[in-house]
Amino acid sequence: MSEIELSTKIYLIDDPDELTDTDLEAIGIAGKIIREGGLAAFPTETVYGLGASAYDPSAAQAVFVAKGRPSDNPLIVHVADPAEAEAFAEVSDTYRDIAEKFMPGAVTVILPKKNCIPSEVTGGLHTVAVRCPSHPVARQLIRMAGVPVAAPSANLSGKPSPTSADHVVRDLTGRVDMILGGGDCVFGLESTVLTVKGERAVHILRPGGVTKEMLEEAGYTVTVDAAVTDLGAVGAKPLSPGMKYKHYAPMAEVILLDMTDSPKSFAEVVNILEEKCEGNCAVMCPAGDEEGLLDCAAVFTYSPAEENDSMAHLLFSCLRSADDKEVSRIYIPLPRTDGMGMAVYNRVIRAAGGRIVRPGDN
Ligand code: TXA
Ligand code: MG
Repeated sequence: MSEIELSTKIYLIDDPDELTDTDLEAIGIAGKIIREGGLAAFPTETVYGLGASAYDPSAAQAVFVAKGRPSDNPLIVHVADPAEAEAFAEVSDTYRDIAEKFMPGAVTVILPKKNCIPSEVTGGLHTVAVRCPSHPVARQLIRMAGVPVAAPSANLSGKPSPTSADHVVRDLTGRVDMILGGGDCVFGLESTVLTVKGERAVHILRPGGVTKEMLEEAGYTVTVDAAVTDLGAVGAKPLSPGMKYKHYAPMAEVILLDMTDSPKSFAEVVNILEEKCEGNCAVMCPAGDEEGLLDCAAVFTYSPAEENDSMAHLLFSCLRSADDKEVSRIYIPLPRTDGMGMAVYNRVIRAAGGRIVRPGDN
């Protein structure tokens, strides 16, 4: 990773729903930084983003340097209003319909790009990814920047996306001009990325907050890219370049436990597996009586009643804290694949390098 030594302004917003004059002033400073070619990180409802002017090729290059990210991985361009995409993308009726139903929100639509978007932003592709976030700070920032904002997740490349201001401060202080904090991200996983396949058909490249079921309910035929759930299907030239990189991998080994057909409980299985190990482990498990049985360094519990959403919200901060505690292994139950579960599955299968342990087999 290259050395960068910037003095980073950090401003934390207490209540994103009630922006004070001082908050607005700080957001205005971040907007000016972006408009003038600098980099500012900001909260969204999915994960934190690292913003740059989508019209400035050298600002886009600076984003890749700050993150240590390969420059052929294209950036998502953020707008405050879905109609603003017309300035830089070939907008179709299908885009307008998706925008009306799901924007602002956790969905990103790939569209043919216009010339005003430099190829540095799109990793050389002729398409551009468009997203209109719902987070009040993100929307205010884009408005105040006065330009569309190219922004990847605000993590160092190879780390889980940041879901709190603290994650960003730890990854990017000294590497960017400003960090705006605005609490924890509601979803905790990145937006759904999709391409339009026809008037009423879309193809999901990366699952996220706008789920397959939600799109189907809105009358769309939805296909899901094979690479979403099958690591082996990530070809040399995937549709979404980001899919080919090793993502979301913590330093600890992630062990996914498929509890289907297991006669033992999740906690019992973890304890049996850990008996033979010397290192310490972390466990992500449903809140309830099982966690009391676990003998390990850290237990992260999610709500079993809202399993998919709650796992999504917890996952990245769990992976990061497990690394902070320097555990050797993290046990996670294999998530479901319905609703938001598909996004959780997509991320954990990558973090685990594709390995799934099935205690029911023995
Ligand atoms: O929720 C999110 O989407 C967050 C917040 C900050 O908005 N952003 C985010 O950006 O996750 P990033 O750069 O970490 O991931 C963008 C993904 C990558 O997998 C990239 O390959 C894909 O979107 N992508 C971007 N432009 C694309 C394009 N023109 N065609 C296909 N895939 C594209
Ligand atoms: Mg990312």
